[in-house]
Amino acid sequence: MYLFLNRSSRVFGFSTLFVFMSYLLPAVEGMWLPIFLEKLNADEMKAMGMRISVDDIYHFQKASLKDAIVIFGGGCTGEMISPNGLLLTNHHCGYGIIQSHSSVENDLLSKGFWAKNSSEELKNDGLSATFIRMMEDVTDKVLSGDNDDLSVNILAVMAEYQESHPDLTFEIKPFYYGNQYIIVGKEIFKDVRLVGAPPSAIGKYGSDTDNWMWPRHTGDFAVFRVYADANNNPAAYAVDNVPYRSRKHLTINAGGVKEGDFTMVFGFPGRTQQYLPAREIEYITQVYNPERIEIRDLVLANLDRRMRASDEVRIKYASKYARISNAWKKWRGENIGIRESNGIERKKNMEFEFRRRLLSKPEWNQKYGYVLDSLNFYYARVLPFKRAYFYYAEIANQGVEALGAMQKWIKTVEKYEAGEMSEEEVWSALDKTIKGLKKDYAPEADQESFAILMPLYLRRLGDLAPYSITSFDKKNNGDWKTISEEAFNDKFFVDFVLNFDEKTKVKKFIKRMKKNHLYYVANGMVDHLNTNVLPSIYRLNDIINQHQKTYMEALMVIFNEKRFYPDANFTMRVSYGKVEGFAPVDAVKYHWQTTHKGILEKYIPGDYEFNLPDPFLELLRSESFGRYVNEQGLLPVCFVASNHTTGGNSGSPALNADGHFIGLNFDRAWEGTMSDLNYDIKRCRNIMVDARYILWVIEHYAGAGYLLDEMDIVW
Ligand code: ARG
Ligand code: GLU
Repeated sequence: MYLFLNRSSRVFGFSTLFVFMSYLLPAVEGMWLPIFLEKLNADEMKAMGMRISVDDIYHFQKASLKDAIVIFGGGCTGEMISPNGLLLTNHHCGYGIIQSHSSVENDLLSKGFWAKNSSEELKNDGLSATFIRMMEDVTDKVLSGDNDDLSVNILAVMAEYQESHPDLTFEIKPFYYGNQYIIVGKEIFKDVRLVGAPPSAIGKYGSDTDNWMWPRHTGDFAVFRVYADANNNPAAYAVDNVPYRSRKHLTINAGGVKEGDFTMVFGFPGRTQQYLPAREIEYITQVYNPERIEIRDLVLANLDRRMRASDEVRIKYASKYARISNAWKKWRGENIGIRESNGIERKKNMEFEFRRRLLSKPEWNQKYGYVLDSLNFYYARVLPFKRAYFYYAEIANQGVEALGAMQKWIKTVEKYEAGEMSEEEVWSALDKTIKGLKKDYAPEADQESFAILMPLYLRRLGDLAPYSITSFDKKNNGDWKTISEEAFNDKFFVDFVLNFDEKTKVKKFIKRMKKNHLYYVANGMVDHLNTNVLPSIYRLNDIINQHQKTYMEALMVIFNEKRFYPDANFTMRVSYGKVEGFAPVDAVKYHWQTTHKGILEKYIPGDYEFNLPDPFLELLRSESFGRYVNEQGLLPVCFVASNHTTGGNSGSPALNADGHFIGLNFDRAWEGTMSDLNYDIKRCRNIMVDARYILWVIEHYAGAGYLLDEMDIVW
C-alpha cells in the first residue's frame, strides 16, 4: 500500500537550503496544495519575498485567503473583493452569462453593463460560486483494507465527514494517480448576480488574434455578486436574499507591481499531465496535436474566409470560431514549446537516470523495474485507438455540425423505433436539435467542411477507418464534393431540416433521413467508435492508469530528494513566481508590462477584434488616468509573471507578498503552453490584467466608482 505519502516527509523531503538564499531565487514550477504549503513550500515562498504566513493562505478554522476564492460556475475561478459578496472573474468566464442577458436591442456584450444598485443586478439560473471550507488527506482511510474496490471506502469516508459537517458538500479526489486521496468540503452558493461587465471591445479586446498572446491589452474582467439568505447561508435565488458577507475578501493593492515582485496565483487549475513518459509526450506533440491541428486548420480556414466575406456569417460563427481556435492555438504553442525547450530530451534524460537508480537497489528494481517499459508499451498500444477517437471527435462532433446533429437524430429515432418515445416526444426532441443546429448556422460552410474533412479522415486513418465508409467512398469514386452536395441539398436536409415543419409525419422524416448521406456516414462513424474504438480505449486506459500510479510512486521514492506536486485536477492550488518578462525566440525580449499605448497602437476602426468605442478612445487619448498610472505616467493594462497555471486558473487572483490582489489571471503566453506537460521557466508566463486597469475602467470609463467604495484598496 501507498501510505508512505502521509507517514513520511521523506518522499517530499525538501532541503531548507532556500532559507539562506535571497530574492534572486528563480520562479518555481508547480501547482501546490494549500494544505501542504507549510511542509513543502513555506520556506521557499518566504525566501522569495512572501510576507504573510501559510496560515494566512489556508487555515481550516480561521478565515484565511482560501475563504475569498471560489469556483466560478463550472470551470473558472473567482474571488471575493468586498465584504458584500462582490466577486471578480474573467469576462470570458462570464461571457455566456452576459450573452444570455443580451438581445439585438440591448446588447450587453457590445455596450457593457453596470448595475447602479442591487435591484439592477441580473440573476443567473444555474450559476454558482463554490467556496472550499476544508481539505483533508484521507489516503489511509480510502486505501485501508484490501482496497479492491475503493468506492466502498470512499462512500464510508464521505458519510463520516457529512455527518460531522452537515452544512458542507463533500467530494473525494485522487491525487498522484491515486497514491493520495483528499476530501474536499465545499459550500455552494447558487444566487450569483451579474453586477458589471465592460464592453467586449475592452473585455475581449484582440479576441482570437491576440488570444494566448503577449503583449496583450485585454481587460478580461467582469463583476458579480454572491447572495445568501437572511442568515448568510447559501440559498436558491430569492428576491429578498441579501449580499453574502464572506469570511474573507481580498484587499486590492493599487500601488502597482514591479519587475521581480513576488506573485502567487490562487485558484482551480483544471488538468495537467506532468508525469507522462517521454514516449507519450512524443505521441502528443508528434501525432495527436498535429493531427488535430491539421483538421482545425481546415475548418478555421473555411470559416475565416466566409466570416470575412459576410457580416452575417461572422456574427453567427464568432463564438464557435473562438472555441475551435482556442485549443488549436494552445496545441500549436505546446508543440513549439516542447521542441524549443527540448522537452522530450529532458524527459528522456530523467528516465535514463530513473533506470540507473532503479538498478542500484534490487528491491526497487523488483518492484518498479517493469513499469516504464510497460507504460510505454501500453501508450503505444492505445495510440491507434486514440487517433481514431480524435478523428471522430474532431470531425463528427465539431468540424461538421450536421454530423453532430445527425447523431442526435439517430438516437432519438432509435428510441422511437424501440417504442420508448411517443410521436410527440420525438417531435419535440427533433425540434430541439434542429433548432440547435440552425441557430447560428451557415449550411454552405458546413457542407464544405464535410467535403474537405471526410477524405482527410479516410486518408489519415487508413485501415483504422470504418469499413462501411471506406466502401461508400469507393462506390462514389472518392468524390466527396458531389456526396456533400447531395447530402446538403436533398429533400431531407432542405425540406425537413432547414425548413422544418411541425406538420410533417415522423415516419416520413425517418424515411427521408435514412436516405441522406449524412445518416450513412454518421452511423458508420458512431458504430465503429462504439464497437472498435472506445472499448479498447477504456480497457487500455485502465491499465495505463494503474501503471501511471505505480510509476508516480516509483518517481517519488526514487527521486526522493525532489518535491512533487500532483497534476492539476480542478482542486484548489497555489502557484508562485515573480513578475518577469521573457525571451522565447531569438532577438525578442518581452517586457513584463503593457500599457494603454498598446491599446491605441492595435486599434483598427471598425474591425471586429480591434475596434474601440469612441468614448473609450477619447478617454484613452485624453490620458485621464487619475491615480492609476505607472512610474512612467502611463496606464498599466496587463502584466506577465512566472506562475505555473493552466485552464481553470482563469479568473484567479494574482496576489503580492502581502496577499493583496494585484492582478487577474486570464491566459498564458502560447510559447509556454507546454507547461501542461513540461514546465520551462524560460518560456512559461501567465498573463494577468493589472488591478489598476480594472479599477480605472470601473471608475473612469464605466462611471461605476460607487463599487470601489465597497472595496478595500491600498495604495
Ligand atoms: N486562452 C484563454 C483561455 O483558454 C482565453 C480563452 C477565451 N478567449 C478567446 N478569445 N477565445 O482559455
Ligand atoms: N484562459 C484559460 C482559462 O479559461 C486560462 C489560460 C491557461 O490555460 O492558462 O482557464
